[in-house]
Amino acid sequence: MRAWEIRGDLGIANLAIAEKPEPEPGPGEVVVEVRACSLNYRDLQVVRGQYGSNTRLPLVPFSDGAGEVVAVGEGVARFAQGDRVSGIFMQGWISGEITPAAAATALGGAIDGMLSEKVVLSEEGLVRIPEHLSFEEASTLPCAAVTAWNGLVEKGGLKAGETVLVQGTGGVSLFALQFAKMFGARAIATSSSDEKLERALTLGASDGINYKKNPGWDERALELTGGRGVDHVVEVGGPDTLNGSLSAVRMGGGIYMIGVLTGISGEVNTALILRKSVRVQGIYVGSRAMFEAMNRAISLNELRPVIDRAFSFEEVPDALRHMESGAHFGKIVVRF
Ligand SMILES: NC(=O)c1ccc[n+]([C@@H]2O[C@H](COP(=O)([O-])OP(=O)(O)OC[C@H]3O[C@@H](n4cnc5c(N)ncnc54)[C@H](OP(=O)(O)O)[C@@H]3O)[C@@H](O)[C@H]2O)c1
Repeated sequence: MRAWEIRGDLGIANLAIAEKPEPEPGPGEVVVEVRACSLNYRDLQVVRGQYGSNTRLPLVPFSDGAGEVVAVGEGVARFAQGDRVSGIFMQGWISGEITPAAAATALGGAIDGMLSEKVVLSEEGLVRIPEHLSFEEASTLPCAAVTAWNGLVEKGGLKAGETVLVQGTGGVSLFALQFAKMFGARAIATSSSDEKLERALTLGASDGINYKKNPGWDERALELTGGRGVDHVVEVGGPDTLNGSLSAVRMGGGIYMIGVLTGISGEVNTALILRKSVRVQGIYVGSRAMFEAMNRAISLNELRPVIDRAFSFEEVPDALRHMESGAHFGKIVVRF
C-alpha cells in the first residue's frame, strides 16, 4: 500500500510516494481504506516546514480524510467493517476543553496523517460521516468545517438574525458562510476577487466586499450593518486583518482568531478590544463531540461542502501548488 511522505527535505518538490506494509489493527484499532483527502492551508505549511517545531520526519501529511472501515481489532465496539468514517483532527480531543495533551495528537503534524491508502486509527479517533455526502465531500470536514463550527456555534453561540463577516473564500470561510445561512444569520463575505464574491453571493452571502480594491472593508461592513457592526468575525487573516475586524465588529461582538494567512504576530489596537468589549477567542479546530454535533446539523440540513477541484492521488504536488496559487474557492480534494 502507498502513502505520500515528507522525508528529510521539506518543500512540495520533495514529497514522495512510499511503499508501506499492509496495516494490521491492534486492540481497539480500526483500519480505514482512505477514499479521499482534503487540503488545508496548514498542510501546505507542514510540507514547506513552516508549521512549528513539533513536526517529526518522515511524516505522512494531511489531517483530513474519509474512507471505509476494512478491518477492526479486538474489542472494537464503535465501528464495524463497511462503516463510512472520517478521522478527527486531534486524535486525543474527544470532548470538553482542549488540553496540551490533546493538542499533541494532530494528524499530519504530531503524528502520521491521512494521505495514505490505508490508515490505522483508534476507534475513538473516528466519526461516522453524513450519509448524503460522498467520500470527497466528507473529507473536507475534519479541520475547516469543525473550526468554523467551533468558532461560530460552540464559542460564538450564533443566532438567527445575527450578522457574520467571513474573510476570503477559502475552506474555513465558506463553511462559516454556509453555517451562518443554516442558522438563519446574515453573511457578509470579503474576497480579493469580484468573481469569487459573485459565487459567494450565490451561496447565500448577502453582500460581498473586495478587500483588495477596498482596503477600508471594515468601514463598508459598518455601513452594511447601519453603523452597528457585525456580531461575529471569522478571522483568518491574522495580524494584517485583526484591526479591521476590531473596527467592523459590534460592541460586545465576537472575533474568532483562526488564521495566520498574513503572519503570526503584529500590532493590535488593544484599546478597541476593551472599548468595544469584544471577545477575541482563539480557536484550534475542535473536539470529536463538536464534530459529531456538526455532522448532525449537516445531515439534517443536507449541507454540501463546496469543492473547488479534485486531484488524483498521484497529483498531490499539483493540488498543493493549486492551494499555493490562491486560485481556489472552497476546498481542494484528493481522490484515491
Ligand atoms: N485555528 C485553526 O484551528 C485553523 C483551522 C483551519 C484553518 N486555520 C487557518 O485559517 C486560515 C485559512 O485556512 P483555509 O484552510 O481556509 O485556507 P484556504 O482554503 O487556503 O483559504 C485562504 C483564503 O483566505 C483568503 N485570504 C488570504 N489573505 C487574506 C486577507 N489578507 N484578508 C482576507 N482574506 C484573505 C483568500 O480568499 P480570496 O481568494 O477570496 O481572497 C484565500 O483564498 C489559514 O491561516 C489556516 O492555517 C486555522
